Amino acid sequence: MAESVPLESPSMSRRQLLNFLTGAAVAATATAALYPAAKFFVPPAQESEDGSILAKDINGNLIPASQILAEPPGTRALVAGLAGEPTYLTVREDGTLHPWGIVDNCTHLGCTFPWNPNENQFQCPCHGSRYDPEGRVVRGPAPLPLKLVRVAVETDFIRISPWTEIDPRTGQKPWWV
Ligand code: FES
Repeated sequence: MAESVPLESPSMSRRQLLNFLTGAAVAATATAALYPAAKFFVPPAQESEDGSILAKDINGNLIPASQILAEPPGTRALVAGLAGEPTYLTVREDGTLHPWGIVDNCTHLGCTFPWNPNENQFQCPCHGSRYDPEGRVVRGPAPLPLKLVRVAVETDFIRISPWTEIDPRTGQKPWWV
C-alpha cells in the first residue's frame, strides 16, 4: 500500500511563486534603472599602453573628476598618480583641471611636502625648499623643478600620463626623461 506523502500547501506554493515573481520583477526593474548609471560610471581602461593610469585615492579607489572639480578654484588635490606617486592636481579659476600635475617628491632628497595656500607655495618640511605653484624652485637646496605629469579628464575620471615633452617651465627637455 502506498504511503501518503504530505503535499505542500497549494497556498504556500502560490505565495512562493508570488515572492519569486515579485523578486524577479524588482530585480528586473532595479537592473533597468541601474544600467544607465552603471554604464555611465564604468571607467575607461585603468592602465594604458602609453603608461597612463586613472587617478585614485589613498584607498585605491578611482576618483571622479567631478569630485575634485567641485572644490574651489586654487585647490590642490593630492591623488595617487603614476606608480602610486602622490601627485597634486590643481583646480583652475575656470573650474577645469590644470593639464599638468605636480609630483609630490622634493627634488632635493625626496621628501613629500604640503601646499601652503597662504604663501602660494609648495614648502618642503625637510630642509626648507620652496616651489612656486607650478613647481619651479623658489628657494633651495632643491636643485630642480618638480616633476610634471600630464592630466586629462576622461569620462569623469582623471587620466595621468608620463610627461615626456619639453618642460614648459624651462623650455628644455625634462630632467626626468
Ligand atoms: Fe626637500 Fe631636502 S628633501 S628640502
